Amino acid sequence: MKRRSLVAGNWKMNKTTVEAAMLSQDICNHYYNDYDNVETVLCPSFMALKTVGTVLDYDKSDIMLGAQDVYWQDNGAFTGAISATMLKSVGCKYCIVGHSERRQYFGETDESVNLKVRALLTQDITPIICVGENLAKRDEGEKAAIDFVTAQISAAFGEVGSDEAGRIVIAYEPIWAIGTGHTATPETAQEMCFRIRERIAEIYGLETAEKVRILYGGSMKPENAAMFAPQPDIDGGLIGGAALEAKPFLDIVKAFV
Ligand code: 13P
Repeated sequence: MKRRSLVAGNWKMNKTTVEAAMLSQDICNHYYNDYDNVETVLCPSFMALKTVGTVLDYDKSDIMLGAQDVYWQDNGAFTGAISATMLKSVGCKYCIVGHSERRQYFGETDESVNLKVRALLTQDITPIICVGENLAKRDEGEKAAIDFVTAQISAAFGEVGSDEAGRIVIAYEPIWAIGTGHTATPETAQEMCFRIRERIAEIYGLETAEKVRILYGGSMKPENAAMFAPQPDIDGGLIGGAALEAKPFLDIVKAFV
C-alpha cells in the first residue's frame, strides 16, 4: 500500500511570532501545490500557532499546522498548560508528542505520552509520536535499541483503539542523531522503522500497520534526504535545524514527492 509521505518541520524553541510569520510566508511563497503526494506540516511554538495558521490559509495551500506538545487534561487548574481543545481551536491538525527533548528536560514518560496521544485523538488531532534510543543503548547493539524503541511504541499505543491507530504518525529519532550532524544510515533507520511497523502489526494487525506513517528524524538535510526517501518503511521526515529556513526545508519536502 502506498502511504502519503509526510514532512514536518519542528521549529523547537526558535522564532519570535514575527519571525515565524516571515518563515511560514516564505515557505508558502515557494510551495507548489503539485507536491500532491507529500503532506507538509509546520510546528512552531505555541506562541506562533495562531499567526502561522493565518499565514497558511488552508484554502490555498496544502501545508498543515502542528504543535510541539499538549497537556492531556481538557481544562482546569493546570497553570501553563495547553489542551488539545485549545490546539484544535487554532487549527492544529497535528501535534508532536514525546520528543526526546521533552523526555529529557521536561520529565515526559511513556505514561504521559500515552495520555497525550489519547487526548489528541479525542479532538481529531493526529499525534506524531517520537521514539528513539540514546547512544548508550545503541552501543549495546541493534537488538537492545530495537527492544527499547518497540517498548516505547507499545506504551504509547496503550488503550488506543484499532480504528484510531492507523492515523497515528511515528517519528523515529535516534537521540544520538538529533542536532549532531550524525544521521543514522538509511539502512539502520529502515531496519528500525520496519521493526516499529512490525510491532504495530503485532498489536493491531498488518492492515493497520501498513497505514501508519513512520518518519525518520535526526540531522536530516537536503543533502541526505534523498537517501531516506526510497526506504520502504520510511514515509517522511521530522526536521529540526533544516526546517528553520524555507529553502532547505522545501528541498527536503521535494525529496519525498
Ligand atoms: P535536527 O534535524 O536538528 O537534528 O532535529 C531533529 C529533531 O529533533 C526533529 O524533531
